[in-house]
Amino acid sequence: MGDYFRALFFRASVINSSLYFKDSLLMKKNTIDFDIIYNRQGTGSLKYDKYKGRDIIPMWVADMDFQAPEAVRNALRKRIDHGIFGYSVATDEINAVVSKRLRSFYGWHIEKDWIVWLPGLVEALNIISRLVRADEQIITFVPAYPPFIDGPRYADRKLITAPLLFDNGRYTFDLEKFEKAITPKTKLFILCNPHNPVGRVYDADELRAVADICLKNNILVCSDEIHCELILSDKKHIPFATLSKRTEDNSITLLSPAKTFNLAGLNCGFAVIPNAEIRKRFVRVKVGIAPPSVNALGFVACQAAYSDCEEWKKSLLEYLKENKRIVYDFVNNKLSPLSMIDVEATYLAWIDVRKLNVPDPVKFFEQAGVGLSDGREFRVDGFVRLNFGCPRKILLEALERMKQAVMQKKTDNQFPITK
Ligand SMILES: Cc1ncc(COP(=O)(O)O)c(C=O)c1O
Repeated sequence: MGDYFRALFFRASVINSSLYFKDSLLMKKNTIDFDIIYNRQGTGSLKYDKYKGRDIIPMWVADMDFQAPEAVRNALRKRIDHGIFGYSVATDEINAVVSKRLRSFYGWHIEKDWIVWLPGLVEALNIISRLVRADEQIITFVPAYPPFIDGPRYADRKLITAPLLFDNGRYTFDLEKFEKAITPKTKLFILCNPHNPVGRVYDADELRAVADICLKNNILVCSDEIHCELILSDKKHIPFATLSKRTEDNSITLLSPAKTFNLAGLNCGFAVIPNAEIRKRFVRVKVGIAPPSVNALGFVACQAAYSDCEEWKKSLLEYLKENKRIVYDFVNNKLSPLSMIDVEATYLAWIDVRKLNVPDPVKFFEQAGVGLSDGREFRVDGFVRLNFGCPRKILLEALERMKQAVMQKKTDNQFPITK
């Protein structure tokens, strides 16, 4: 455990063995305290184990340092007490909960048969990559969530990319380059909405424009909408499939409670596939590569998250909005020459480090005690991604460490910072 965490946990355990800060003891009944710092060391956490034994605050992979909602934990306890963990199937209740959610949130009426349950959405990306023939192509925009790139690679399918366009302080689809990149062999487009890593919630006009190009060129669209409930602006998420009957029929939508309710380790997500023929092909490929059933606890957690956790989600979004504001102000005002754009959704900040002029920005910040994701994994140079889904004290400490490193570099001027 690093020095900073050791100090935090020592203090916390002196106050209370359940590891929360004094301020947190003021927590009133029914309020949720996202300031509580939990010790994730020794829990087999991918995020923390990467830096085991090193004083590096992990701000990389996309899970949060918050406990899942109480209703989820209670549902899991009840299921665990039942004690039998045989193979699981989706119940009518969970399918009804999903259908109701999509109807009430987005006015999207789906049929229960359209839902294909999965042990995770990375799995879905591997499956959809195999829906195109070996000589056909898949297209996506970059920067792209790394499994958008790896899925086609593992399936030995050719991936072509088009860049997002940075226009007027925000990213949008570069439709000209997208259309130019498409060939008669391009058969699948992987869309990320809201977008990881740039945090955009795409507008109806943007989605319609890209949908039209795909329809015109006979390209199936897989829309990964895992971040759709983490909206940190006043925008509304529009499921790609709801643009029109034609887009619905030409779409696979990927959804999961994992990001919003911090359940990634429970491995439960689903695809909504309205077109029976596409669904049949998807299921056939799935049978060959994915485990046949979803984690029994994942189902339980998903159902509880989608049924009883709206208050929790509301509090989470308030907390994340403030974290976002802190990161945005800090990066743009105190970390010059670094900069970042507004994050409309997700808990991920996409930070431009090009002007810092260091050969390996992730290593640079690791040496300062902060573990970030490397933009190159998203196919873009000169950016890092910072996960701000954590208690504010940890966030502020990480930002302070980054500031010290940037200031030190300015002082040393080992590599001249580009203006
Ligand atoms: C866009 C996107 N899709 C999928 C995933 C991963 O989904 P899962 O954990 O269900 O495999 C992530 C995780 O960060 C993501 O950002």
